[in-house]
Amino acid sequence: MTATGRMARKAEVSVETFLVWGAEGWIAGKLAELLKKGVRDVHTTKVRMEEREEVRQELDRVKPTHVLIAAGCTGRPNVDWCEDHREETVRSNVIGTLNVVDVCAMRNIHCTVFATGCIYQYDKEHPWHGPGFVETDPPNFFGSFYSMTKAHLEQVRAASPSITWFSLLQ
Ligand SMILES: NC(=O)c1ccc[n+]([C@@H]2O[C@H](COP(=O)([O-])OP(=O)(O)OC[C@H]3O[C@@H](n4cnc5c(N)ncnc54)[C@H](OP(=O)(O)O)[C@@H]3O)[C@@H](O)[C@H]2O)c1
Repeated sequence: MTATGRMARKAEVSVETFLVWGAEGWIAGKLAELLKKGVRDVHTTKVRMEEREEVRQELDRVKPTHVLIAAGCTGRPNVDWCEDHREETVRSNVIGTLNVVDVCAMRNIHCTVFATGCIYQYDKEHPWHGPGFVETDPPNFFGSFYSMTKAHLEQVRAASPSITWFSLLQ
């Protein structure tokens, strides 16, 4: 297909505009790549989620129909970093995530959070090689600060049925 043909096809197919939060992250990159393969109008952003005014301006600029949040504090070199950097972790994983979700809800923008995870551990009802967890199961792992932020966020989500939430079950 020629470049002009591709552009015409894109205009034809793209009734939806996607904005992926966490532009340089691993999952955000994968999401953007997949969406672009489907000839979608896809944008990514690095705007800090906790900066409400900047979040508003980004939404005004891009005018997305769908926001995918794949940003979050994962710690470097790993989540142990979060134990000693609690303010930064809460700022991103709780305040920031809820901020973007809230601004999207106020504007009626479909918002999916791809940023939860590490919130379950095996127990009597869910043994190794057992049935596994489903998204409606309440979190049962609060054993690291990183997981605690994600697990509490998940509980807020469960109480807010209008939020679409995609759990990365681990
Ligand atoms: N990968 C997994 O297996 C997995 C499993 C379960 C859950 N998750 C969750 O899924 C999300 C993405 O994971 P990932 O593996 O793609 O992590 P990643 O590669 O570390 O990417 C996270 C991205 O989010 C950005 N970010 C952090 N705080 C932000 C904020 N307040 N505002 C805007 N951007 C912010 C980071 O930018 P900076 O580096 O500039 O802060 C980074 O680009 C995370 O929330 C993670 O906890 C991942």
